[in-house]
Amino acid sequence: MMKQFILLVSLLVFSVSWTSTSTPIQTDFKRCMSTQFSAYTKNFEIIYTPESSLYSYLLQSTIQNPRWLNATTQPLLIVAPFHESEVQAAVLCSKKYDLQVRVRSGGHDYEGLSFLCQTPYIIIDLINMRSIDINVEEETGWVQSGATLGELYYAIAKKSQVHGFPGGLCPTLGIGGHLSGGGFGTLLRKYGLAADNVLDAYLIDVNGRILDRKAMGEDLFWAIRGGGGASFGIILSWKIRLVRVPKIVTGFSVSKTLDSGVTKLVHRWQEIAPYLPEDLFIRIVIVGDGFNKAVQVSFNSLFLGEIDTLIPLMNKTFPELGLKFEDCIEMSWVESTVNFAGFPNGSLVEVLLDKKQLFKSNFKAKSDFVTEPIPINGLEGIWGRFVEEEIAIMIMDPFGGKMNEISESETPFPHRKGNLYNIQYLKKWEKNGVRESNRHVYWMRSLYKYMGSYVSKSPRAAYVNYRDLDLGTNNQDNTNYLESTSWGVKYFKGNFKRLAQLKSKVDPENFFRSEQSIPHYK
Ligand code: FDA
Repeated sequence: MMKQFILLVSLLVFSVSWTSTSTPIQTDFKRCMSTQFSAYTKNFEIIYTPESSLYSYLLQSTIQNPRWLNATTQPLLIVAPFHESEVQAAVLCSKKYDLQVRVRSGGHDYEGLSFLCQTPYIIIDLINMRSIDINVEEETGWVQSGATLGELYYAIAKKSQVHGFPGGLCPTLGIGGHLSGGGFGTLLRKYGLAADNVLDAYLIDVNGRILDRKAMGEDLFWAIRGGGGASFGIILSWKIRLVRVPKIVTGFSVSKTLDSGVTKLVHRWQEIAPYLPEDLFIRIVIVGDGFNKAVQVSFNSLFLGEIDTLIPLMNKTFPELGLKFEDCIEMSWVESTVNFAGFPNGSLVEVLLDKKQLFKSNFKAKSDFVTEPIPINGLEGIWGRFVEEEIAIMIMDPFGGKMNEISESETPFPHRKGNLYNIQYLKKWEKNGVRESNRHVYWMRSLYKYMGSYVSKSPRAAYVNYRDLDLGTNNQDNTNYLESTSWGVKYFKGNFKRLAQLKSKVDPENFFRSEQSIPHYK
């Protein structure tokens, strides 16, 4: 829909608009662009300055955290290419005019790094580069970075009922950011991360060259599969491995409140969930309800098999949950992605193509990895905090299974064997305003402080796709490796050094930089 809209208006405008109000730098940039990509027959408007009517719409359309809608920084222009040569041109022209580049695929970055910047910058928005080509015989697919996960899941299901892809739960996530930071969801225990299932990629490097896996070399190919987007170049497209799923899978969601002995149940879940057969994924979602001084704990599950196999398996492995036949629903894998995204039962799978995120609100998030079960009194301390807050959420995703089989250095994502589960903390709020934001961010920081003694240590690990600038930031003009270890080692552990060494080699001028880009190793 969005694409059609941009295409339609673009056709009306037809070519680069040289408005009289453009500043010299914008005019120079556009001129540079038209020279650089003259080889390509350009049919559509691809450059939007603040004067163009679509600029604000485009800037805001994929921002997932409304907290950033009123940010004080905005790009000099947005380039929304249709063709790779236009991305090349945008990189070369940005370099020429010393403009920073922010690359955006789905716009879900928690801290807005794909569209905010403190120095003059442009956004390269891949919203028009979203083609998907699935090859069932080969069990592979090529997907452009600007496509969403929902579009990918839908495209796979159109071709095959027995294939899927192990990405995240939210269908509006952009392929570009998600895969370059790792990416996990309900198939994590069976097939690992989205990034573990990347076979090849096309990347535009700092010199504007288009490189595939062979041309970029194994080191760079390693870095872009979990090293966090935008430090090494712009990834245009990815060759992915499709994974096999049964025709029928089973989902369940069982919710409990504090008065139903849930603390013991959560405690038990920690001892069981990471060791279950890898076809069974049971996550916990905890929601604080400050209005009613209550906490709701939901056990959400995907089982790669039918109910008749699941029930005896649950009775054997996790009888404490008391799972009943009527708690479960059989469906296809693609229907399970609709279900996990939060759409009501029975929704059409076409909702996966919807670009509008469900449950959009301001938020601050943080993450942890847990290596030892949190004791009962530790869990009670969490409930104590959650009963005071309206919209506080904690999601616990079990690891184990395939994640234990992949070494810490196989990709930059090091959180493998030894991790029981990942925690994501989310504090959401409706009202805008600095004071309101500060109050919620303060609450989140105090929860994070409280959790310190119960989670991984040395380093206290974090997931780069749940980006958190509280962990530390670069000094943009002069990144310093040692200072950056404050956040880098949390995201990447021992892989941070290798990422930094590679960064020195492939981007010696540190062109692709941001508050948390990989620094040079020095
Ligand atoms: P966005 O476009 O904002 O990019 C994120 C980062 O990657 C930025 O630094 C950007 O510059 C860079 N980047 C983007 N495209 C690039 C490209 N083509 N080349 C180079 N760099 C590029 N995660 C998860 O693992 N499992 C989950 O289930 C979820 N669920 C979820 C729900 C919701 C509502 C949100 C907001 C987020 C998640 N996430 C998640 C986190 C998500 O994986 C993470 O925010 C990704 O980086 C989002 O990728 P986008 O392309 O949408 O973001």
